Parts: sequence; C-alpha cells; structure tokens
Amino acid sequence: MPKKTSDFSRPKGTRDFLPEEMAKRRSVEETMRSVFEDFGYGEVETPVFEHLELITAKSGEEIKAHLYHFKDKSSRDLTLRPELTAPVMRLYLEALTHAPKPVKLYYFGDCFRYEEPQSGRYREFRQAGVELIGSPNPEAEAEVICVAVSALERLGLKDFRVSIGEVGVLRTLLESGGIHKEAHASVMNAIDKGVDVRKTLDGLGMQKDMEELLLTILELRGGKEALHTALELIEKTGIDLGDARAKINRLEETLRLLDVMGFEYSLDLGIARGLDYYTGMVFEIYAEGLGAQKQICGGGTYSLTEILDGEPAPTCGFAFGFDRIILALESQGKLAAPEKERLLVVATGEDMVGEAMRIASIIRRKRGCEVELMRRKLVKALAYANNMGYQRVVIVGGEELAKGCVVLRNMGKGEQKEVRIEDLGGPL
Ligand code: HAM
Repeated sequence: MPKKTSDFSRPKGTRDFLPEEMAKRRSVEETMRSVFEDFGYGEVETPVFEHLELITAKSGEEIKAHLYHFKDKSSRDLTLRPELTAPVMRLYLEALTHAPKPVKLYYFGDCFRYEEPQSGRYREFRQAGVELIGSPNPEAEAEVICVAVSALERLGLKDFRVSIGEVGVLRTLLESGGIHKEAHASVMNAIDKGVDVRKTLDGLGMQKDMEELLLTILELRGGKEALHTALELIEKTGIDLGDARAKINRLEETLRLLDVMGFEYSLDLGIARGLDYYTGMVFEIYAEGLGAQKQICGGGTYSLTEILDGEPAPTCGFAFGFDRIILALESQGKLAAPEKERLLVVATGEDMVGEAMRIASIIRRKRGCEVELMRRKLVKALAYANNMGYQRVVIVGGEELAKGCVVLRNMGKGEQKEVRIEDLGGPL
C-alpha cells in the first residue's frame, strides 16, 4: 500500500451534523431563542476570530492555554474565539454604551478550544448565552439565572441542578491572606479543577489562618444557612475582611429573589469558574447522566468593560454548552425533530415532468413541496414516498390534467381524490 500523504478526514475534536441532527439542533436553538426573546433580549453576532489581546486580557490561564491562536498575513495576532463574553463586551463598548440600560443581549456561536476531546468536550463547540449590562442590582443576577432555568424547562430537560457560589468573597479572602491579584488566577484555577488547592496556597505563602478559613468556606454547601455559616466564620476571625460581608448579604438577596420565583438551587461556595473575569455571584448548571462533562451552563457577575478600556459597567450573564444540552436532552429521550408536513409531486411519465414542475410552483405559492427527481415509476414513487414519510403525494397524469386536475393521495389513509389545479394554492 502506498503511504497516504494527504488527510481528508475531519480535524480532531470537530463534528459534522447530518440533516436529521441539524433539524433537532435548530429546533433546540429556536426554543432557546424564544425564551431569550420572551425576556426581552436581542440577538447579536460577533466575528469568529478576534484580536488575541481581547481574549487574553482577562480570561484566565485555563482559556489561554487552549487558544487557536494564529498570525494573519499582516502579522496580526488573532485567535478563534474560545467564548463570547469578551467579544460581546467589545461589541457593547464599540456600539452600545449610550443605549438605555439595561442592555440585554443574547447570542449563538461556535467556539474553539484546543482541548483533549471526549464525549461532551470538543475543540469546536457551540455556545448559546446572554449578557445583561447596566444593572448593578440583585434582580439582574436573579433574572439571568431565571433565563437559563426557563430555557431548560421549556426544552423539557429534567434532572438538572443549579449551583450558586460567590467568587468575590474568595478573592477578598485571598487578598486578606496576602495573595496578590496577579496570583488569584492560579488559585481560582486550582479551585475550579478541585486539585492542589492547599498546595497552591502554601506555594504562594498564604497566611495560615486565612488559608484555613478559605479552605473551610470552599467546602460550604447547602441552602442559605451555608451563607450564614460563612458569615459567622468570617466574623470569628475578628479581622476586617473588607467587603466580604456585603458580598454575602448581596448574594443572600439574589437567592431570596430566586426563592420568590420558586427556583431550586443549592449553594456551593467552592465554585471558582475557569474564567478570570468573575467578580461576584457565579453559577453552574449540571445535567445528570453526562459523566465528567455534565456542566451544561456557566455564568455569573463579571467585570470586563474597564479591562477593555471602557467605563466600568455592572455585567452578568451565562453561556450554555449547546452540544452538552443536546446530549442531555437525547439521553432523556427529549430530543425530537419537529414534525414537518411533506408533500411530493410525482409525474406519471417522462412527458409529465414539465407539468409536475409547473404544478409544484403553483403549490409553493401556499406551501412547501418537492418534486420526484429520479423518474421512478408511479408504484415505486409511492413506495418511496411512504418510506420517506411524505404525508401526501400529488400525482400528475395526462388524463386528470386534461380535466384541469391532479390526483391528491393521502399516504396515511391510502385514499386519493381529484383536485382542481387552481385549488392547489389553497387549503388542501
Ligand atoms: P464556560 O463555563 O467556559 O463559560 O463555558 C460555558 C459552557 O460551555 C460550559 O458550561 C460548557 O457547557 C460549555 N463548554 C465549555 N467548553 C466546552 C468544550 N470544549 N466542549 C463542549 N462544551 C464546552 C463561558 O464561556 C462564559 N463566557 C460564560 C459566561 C457568559 N459568563 C458570563 N457570561
């Protein structure tokens, strides 16, 4: 065998989608879109590649290590986008800073991260998300969580959990323990991965009492009582921990609003998120049955505008891992392509092909239809229509045409009737 020199296969970590799969994906996208729009969010689209700096400014080590970074022919450093929050903030600063607040945006877009592919983890994957800009209030945070949960509910997804944390408190504790801001990313990354947190803190020389307090707080889980425990622990230190108390009170207010709306969640102060721009409330949603890649949504309150040389603006949002939601819906038997009305126009002989095309054009003034393009004999064409799930067939034959009619066959019932050609543009 001669050695193969070319590789025409799909790049690792990417996927192709066939029509049936695309129909299901589009239907999920439409449901999500309808929820985002019901909440008054408007769709935006940004380029697939951005200046490298936009992404490296504050996205964190985790993302930087996984970028598809390249130089264009003018030696510009560009990268395929690994996420859409930084691009949408750039768009906001370029076009929408003067718009009345809040600015409510949503997006669908493919993202690229050079990661080790596995089920639910790809190098090219799709995100759907929202960004809410301009409201500093807890109701903005509660609304963002509400949008995410409402979309999952409308999709019919069951068995998902919402976990809420607060990275602002974690950052305050790090600073009080002598860890400089520049080193926060490595700690947050260790917390996010759930590995070597103590080792990382020791390595950075964190004050021992603060380290113990932080490690205890990271373990806090449950309902609002876990927040009260965090407050007590912070107060017991007797140290002035800056805005930690205010941040906890603020989170409590967000949770109270979620209670009012009847949403279930659990508190998890060990959530750190893999991105570096979060400053306050953070949340993640997990779906059962997806194994290691069960996180279907991530988001929270973040600060990016000032890092991108804009005015500070309160911002909060989330992104769904679209592909993981597809996997979760599929595993729960909730992924179905919408039923489509299919109508096939069949010519009874070669001499009728032109007439079949003409009649199809008349039908298309009112509804979609297809023309049989393989010149199958009528019996075979009907068997084909049956196998392919066409509900109705229009048979174009010389005898009926002479009367200005065609035969309309209902495939389900096996019944047929003559219909006048001019009536084909109306209800059938
Ligand atoms: P993220 O958690 O990095 O957050 O990504 C959001 C979601 O994208 C994840 O929860 C996960 O479901 C999905 N995802 C991430 N990487 C992959 C991958 N390699 N393959 C398949 N799915 C993946 C963000 O990107 C933030 N921009 C979210 C946000 C919006 N925060 C505020 N606003």
